[in-house]
Amino acid sequence: MELHETPQKPTLAILTYADENRVFRGNQENFIDLIRSGEEKGVLVYVMTTNDFKLVGKKALGYSYNFQTKKWKKQLLPLPHVIYNRIPYRKFELLPEVQQVLQVCMRHGKIHFFNPTFFNKWTLFEWLNKSKNTQTLIPATQKLTTSEDLEHLLEKHQNLYLKPIRGKAGKGIMKVSQIPEKSAKTRKYQLSIQNKTKSHISRYSNVPQLWTQIREAIGNKDYIIQQGITLANYKQRPYDLRVLVQKNNKGLWSIAGIGARLAGKLSITTHVPRGGSIDDPAKLLDAGFGPTVSKKILRRAKKSALVIAKQIEKASQTMLGEMSMDLGVDTTGQIWFFEANSKPMKFDEPHIRQKSLDNLILYSVHLSKTPAKPSRFAAGAAKRKTANHSAKAR
Ligand SMILES: Nc1ncnc2c1ncn2[C@@H]1O[C@H](COP(=O)(O)OP(=O)(O)O)[C@@H](O)[C@H]1O
Ligand SMILES: [Mg+2]
Repeated sequence: MELHETPQKPTLAILTYADENRVFRGNQENFIDLIRSGEEKGVLVYVMTTNDFKLVGKKALGYSYNFQTKKWKKQLLPLPHVIYNRIPYRKFELLPEVQQVLQVCMRHGKIHFFNPTFFNKWTLFEWLNKSKNTQTLIPATQKLTTSEDLEHLLEKHQNLYLKPIRGKAGKGIMKVSQIPEKSAKTRKYQLSIQNKTKSHISRYSNVPQLWTQIREAIGNKDYIIQQGITLANYKQRPYDLRVLVQKNNKGLWSIAGIGARLAGKLSITTHVPRGGSIDDPAKLLDAGFGPTVSKKILRRAKKSALVIAKQIEKASQTMLGEMSMDLGVDTTGQIWFFEANSKPMKFDEPHIRQKSLDNLILYSVHLSKTPAKPSRFAAGAAKRKTANHSAKAR
């Protein structure tokens, strides 16, 4: 830094994908909320797109928001200390031109870049299976390729969940249940396929028939098959916990909030768009387990979420700043990990919402005071792939 230069205020860029009709993709309301939170705390926040991504000298091309005119303005802005990846879909992230931008961000010596990629359900399982601290929190899981995989897990578990590795919001989820011998007659297996708000149910007398139907539903997508957990329920509706885990003003993992999602009456998942609803975890847990045990479960859920976040970050060899997590509580009160998402959707609970914005801003302030280093992941990837981009260092 030159002698008389005033130090630049902490600067955070939100990275997303451009859109012809509405400037860029992603949840603009979210971006604006983050820009406002930044303003309140003396942090410059703006949006960058992968399409016109440009770092030139001490400037970057970005979009700032004008609260009076409610318009975005494209301009050269101070180089960010931190870039926060909010590219909203996997299909965008996989485009070669987007990959190239992500590589530049990861390898940049002076900019902190967090949440570089989406997670997938299979690697998450592998990462968490590596550590003794998290092994006990994951249901038995396998990649689903042959009917033998299915048969093998059916011998061990009454219920199984089949989930697309790159799925979200309940799309493509199936459940296989074994009907108890007495009521089974000839149809032994029940398959539920999650549709918009209901699940479509069919029955089969043997695994080959069941497998034919499953294969048709799977198509060419990659799936995992997982031990079904019998979730605790409230008024006969199963629920699970959604935890938002974020780094705080010291760069340490913390719980921003924890909400509960109750399954819709006819659904095999708890997603709100599929008939699920939001509720207070303490209320649901109190009703089922009593206040003392309920508090213990909630404490354990929070502790587990932190242990899981640390292991995911370590195993992924990338820098992460936040993730949301779906945790199940079974009927005995045990905690189970279902999935984590590196592009968490907005939490509707206002207190979690506020905390999440505060954390992102304070974490960015923390990072702005810490020297950046290129990620280990990028260093490895760079050997295999020579990125060719016009980015210059700060
Ligand atoms: N192994 C399982 N046992 C019981 N319920 C499950 C299991 N896996 C998923 N679910 C239910 O389905 C929901 C969606 O699963 P999840 O893995 O989060 O996929 P998605 O990416 O579609 O949200 C979970 O929140 C939970 O309610
Ligand atoms: Mg989920």
